[in-house]
Amino acid sequence: MSLSSISSAADDEIYFDEESIIVSKTDRRGIITYANDVFIHVSGYAEAQLIGQPHNILRHSDMPACVFRLLWDTLEAGREIFAYVLNRSREGRPYWVFAHVTPSFDSSGQIVGYHSSRRVPYPDALPKVKALYAELLRMERAAASRREGIEVSLQFLNRTLEAAGISYGEFVFSLSASTRLGAAA
Ligand SMILES: Cc1cc2nc3c(=O)[nH]c(=O)nc-3n(C[C@H](O)[C@H](O)[C@H](O)COP(=O)(O)O)c2cc1C
Repeated sequence: MSLSSISSAADDEIYFDEESIIVSKTDRRGIITYANDVFIHVSGYAEAQLIGQPHNILRHSDMPACVFRLLWDTLEAGREIFAYVLNRSREGRPYWVFAHVTPSFDSSGQIVGYHSSRRVPYPDALPKVKALYAELLRMERAAASRREGIEVSLQFLNRTLEAAGISYGEFVFSLSASTRLGAAA
């Protein structure tokens, strides 16, 4: 990936190529075991600064904790998950990604680690994601404890999905016209 493919807007957000895929692998605890060149380039860390570190090295403080709870619950149950994630580069610059995270299994079916591929988010999905995450974050920050905050925000998310009669996976794919189920290819 060339330097020119990353541009900086006035708000300091990082944008990366539509063709690029940011890839990382972790062990079962979320410790980074592999990062591709795009990951290294966009995150601003050297490979040696990433390998062996927990994946929350990229955590942005505006990400609701309940999204990561959902991510871990889904992965540990052996299922894949798609999620919009706001990350933070080494320099503190934010960047949005649309992540597909999957468990990796050994020959006996045991989970041995996880794999994440991230692309540029669909632009029409982002305003909806930002509004939802702001609401989830507001609930988490208003709660008496981190644990209570995650409980309250997850309940809100589940209630919202129930009211819409859709699963979390369907919800994520309903956010953009490009990924909406049944959308014209
Ligand atoms: C394969 C994989 C990829 C992940 N990618 C990210 C990521 O890009 N950004 C992030 O903040 N957390 C990511 N996580 C989740 C982190 O492990 C962690 O749960 C999250 O940053 C919240 O950290 P905290 O619980 O310390 O607040 C990933 C986890 C896995 C298993």
